[in-house]
Formats: sequence, structure tokens, C-alpha cells
Amino acid sequence: MALKKKKTLSGGSVLKVKASVAPLNFGTQWQYVEALEGSDHVKIEPKYGLFIDGKFVEPHSKKYFDTINPANEKVLSKIAEADAHDVNLAVEAARRSYDNVWSKMSGKERGKYLFRIARIMQERARELAVVETLDGGKPIRESKSVDIPLAAAHFFYYAGWADKLEYAFSGRSPRPLGVAAQVIPWNFPLLMAAWKIAPALATGNTVVLKPAETTPLTALKLAEIFQEADLPPGVVNIITGFGATGAELVSHKGVNKVAFTGSTEVGKKINRAILGTDKRITLELGGKSAHLIFEDASIDQAVEGIVNGIFFNQGHVCCAGSRLLVQESVEKIVLRKLFDRMQTLAVGDPMDKNTDIGAINSHEQMKKIEGYIASGKTEGAKLFQTSCRLPSKGFWAKPTVLSEVAQSFRVVQEEIFGPVLTVQSFRTVEEGIEKANNTPYGLAGGVWTDKGSKIFSVSSHLRAGVVWANTYNKFDPTSPFGGYKESGMGREGGISGLLPYVQF
Ligand code: NAI
Ligand code: MG
Repeated sequence: MALKKKKTLSGGSVLKVKASVAPLNFGTQWQYVEALEGSDHVKIEPKYGLFIDGKFVEPHSKKYFDTINPANEKVLSKIAEADAHDVNLAVEAARRSYDNVWSKMSGKERGKYLFRIARIMQERARELAVVETLDGGKPIRESKSVDIPLAAAHFFYYAGWADKLEYAFSGRSPRPLGVAAQVIPWNFPLLMAAWKIAPALATGNTVVLKPAETTPLTALKLAEIFQEADLPPGVVNIITGFGATGAELVSHKGVNKVAFTGSTEVGKKINRAILGTDKRITLELGGKSAHLIFEDASIDQAVEGIVNGIFFNQGHVCCAGSRLLVQESVEKIVLRKLFDRMQTLAVGDPMDKNTDIGAINSHEQMKKIEGYIASGKTEGAKLFQTSCRLPSKGFWAKPTVLSEVAQSFRVVQEEIFGPVLTVQSFRTVEEGIEKANNTPYGLAGGVWTDKGSKIFSVSSHLRAGVVWANTYNKFDPTSPFGGYKESGMGREGGISGLLPYVQF
């Protein structure tokens, strides 16, 4: 029986194979003995207050909500719900520390705090990775190798700029804006907190941050790190709650700058809420990014890139490569290789080190993904899903491909935010570019070709903030990131990421 065979991975290691039903399964292929990440070293408090003025405090509302583990629906902790009164306290604390401490401190001293925060994040990396995976459902392999190291790298990178701002804006004297209100989503909870907080602090602003309601825990751990780093009270305040808390925060009169990552719908609401004020704003919103695979591409490499681009992090990635545009002459072979590769993806317990695809972040998001798959079928798409079995508890989605779709289908135009890829073909370079640009979004894109000149010419015609060539989803704190059209405005990361936090 196939299940009793051993499989040798390319690295030469031999994995033990179990014949009984294992939590992870690879469709018709292999089942591996589970390799669970330990969580004994992690302490999650039964209840968390709001982090205001350097201390955890009870919410004025006295209300708490549950944050759960989406892989088993168990409650992890009770989280404070901030109301208008709490938002006001947090903004006032941020203002006091801006006026009295942070805006007066030299860049060199601010930088020391940022370096210290980065180092503590590295020391506590394993703990942060486990908490990220338990609270949000992403595979531990990704939390460990992507989310947490990149979050620390952002603090390191912006720590380096804190005392060199006059070189970032040569000939001009940058000054901070004041209090920054930052609202972040659930797909990269700690990384998004780092993207927002590090450049704000480096440039001398103070912060009130609201994490997403389904993934507040690593932001609260970050608050513990701020205490450990002796960051002066009020420089960063972390308030938890739902959309109403976020809405109170961004419209508070004491806020000078709003930074938001999340849905285009909420981004538009926030933009409307601050109209007529002098608040500065950056929005990082959704995407419907396309891979363009040309017939001269290395097909195996491209297939790996497609898999990484959409199934990575359950498709909960704003720049996910959710549309595959493939040149007609290689469509058949690309799809055959893609379907074969997809069958080897391990869907299951996010705490298992073998897992490729973890849990969908919430019941609501799972229903949204199921709704889109149904809509694709109704509109006439051909469905391919891997034959893996899904766990009975928790929220899951099978890796899915919808082919034979038309540009007008909802699944081609709208952001699904799940492990669902649409496939279209094209004949000429112009047709490929035209299809890639034909959505309301413009966040990212991927070009796969052997020809360097084609990379330059195609990427300069893509209306997208980031274009990767012969790779996908590569991040670095030194690179700017952001979108065109409904994907948002402003840039985060790199030197460009300092600009939204300064005035001259
Ligand atoms: P969302 O945009 O509602 O939530 C993001 C953050 O905004 C959360 O912290 C939330 O509490 C807060 N928020 C909600 N309403 C607000 C308001 N009126 N004012 C201020 N803050 C508010 O995203 P949601 O509902 O969790 O996901 C819905 C869809 O959004 C997803 O299916 C996906 O398509 C997209 N999305 C895009 C993300 C991105 O990185 N571009 C991240 C998360 C979701
Ligand atoms: Mg949770």
C-alpha cells in the first residue's frame, strides 16, 4: 500500500509514514507523522486589557470579546473592547508623550529604542511565532520564517534611519506630524504592526494602534516588549476592538495622521471620515494581482511561484497572485504541472511543521471564499480542487483553481482573499498586459519569462505597485510597497515609507 512506503525528500531525509489517518494529508499521495511545534514556553493571559500610557488597563466599557484559534475554534483569551472614552485616553496619552518626550528626543536616542525593540523581538521570536499561528491560523513554518523575522527587520531598518533623516530628505528638514492612528488587518498581524509603528517612531511621531479583532494577541505581546524595552509611556498605545473602535480612532480630533491596511470598502469609509480635516492618510488596500507566464518561461519555476503566490498563507495576502494569465501555447502543460503540485500541498493543523496551508482566519472569511467558489461555478468556470480531506473543526478551504473564466466574472474582478486561483490564457504580449490591468486594483504582479528585455517592457506596462520577475511574494524592509487605483495610496517600506510621517 502506498501509504506504507517511505518517501525520500530531495534533501535525503527519510520521513516516517503513518498508515492511520494523520491530521495532515496530501490527497492521494502521502501522510506524514505530525511534527507539532511546542507551545509550553508560551504564556497567553486569560484576559488582556488595553495598553494605554505604558500600562495594561481595564476598558471603560468593561466589555471583553473572545479571540479564538481558527484551527479548532477554542477560545485563547478575552480581549478588551475599547469605546470612545478609551480611544480618547489613548490619543491623549500619545499626545502627552509626543509633546513632552518623543518629539524632543534626538533621532539617535529614538533609534536606540527601536534597536532594542528589534532585538527583544528576535529573542522572543519563537514565542511570537507560536502566538501568531495560534491566533490567526497561519502555518508555523511561515510565522517562523516570514512574519516574525520580517517584523524585527522593519524595526532594525527604521532604527537605522532615526538619526539620518536629513539624508533621507536631502536639503530639507523633516519634522514629525504628531499622533498617528494606525488600523491593521488580520493577515500579517505582527508584521503589519511593525510596518506601521517602526517608521512612525523613527520619524518622531507617537502612535495609537488598533489590531484586527480576530488577531490581537501578537500586538499585545508587542506591548509587553515595549515595556521590556522601557519605551517611554504613551509613545505607542494599543487599543483593541472591532470596526467601531477603529472608526472612533481615525476620526478623533487629536489625530494628525491615519494609516490603514485592510479592505477597500473600509479604506473608502476612512477616507470619507477624514475629508475636510488636515489629517494625512495612507491606505494599503486589496488586490487582484496577476501572474503573466510566457511560453519562454521556466515552467517548473513558474508553477512553484504560482503555488507560493496564492496558496501561501491561505491566500490571505493583499498582493496574492490570484489570477494566472498563461500564454496559450503552454497553458496545458502549466495546468497539468500546477494540478500535480497542488496535490502535494499539506492542508491542516497550522502548528504542524509540515503544513503548507493552515486555517482560514475566521468563519466569516471561510463563508466569503465558499461564496466566491459557488459564484465562479454558476458563472461557468471549471473547478479543480485538491483531494485533501479537511479537519472537522475549525475553518478551512481547499486549494482551488477556477479555469475557463471570462474577464467579467466576479471571481476575476473581485478580491477573494482565499486559496483560489483563476486561470485565463492570452496569445500576444499586449493581450496579456491588457488582461492583467483590467481590474479595479493595481497592487502587484508577476512576470515569468526567460527574456530580460521582456521583463522590463512588460513590468513597465503593468499598472501595479510591485512587480516581481521570475519570483513572487518576496519582501524586504528596504523596498517600497503600495498600490495603484483601488489598491490604495501612499507607500510603505524603504525610504518612501518615511515620507508619510514627516512634514517640512
Ligand atoms: P476590514 O477592512 O473590515 O478590517 C481591517 C481593520 O479595519 C480591522 O482592524 C477592523 O477592525 C478595522 N475596521 C473595520 N471597519 C472600520 C471602520 N469603519 N473604521 C476604521 N477601522 C475599521 O477587513 P475584514 O472585514 O476583516 O476583511 C474583509 C475583506 O477585506 C477580506 O475578505 C479581504 O478581501 C480584505 N482584506 C484586505 C487586506 C489587505 O491586506 N489588503 C487585509 C484584510 C482584509
Ligand atoms: Mg484569533
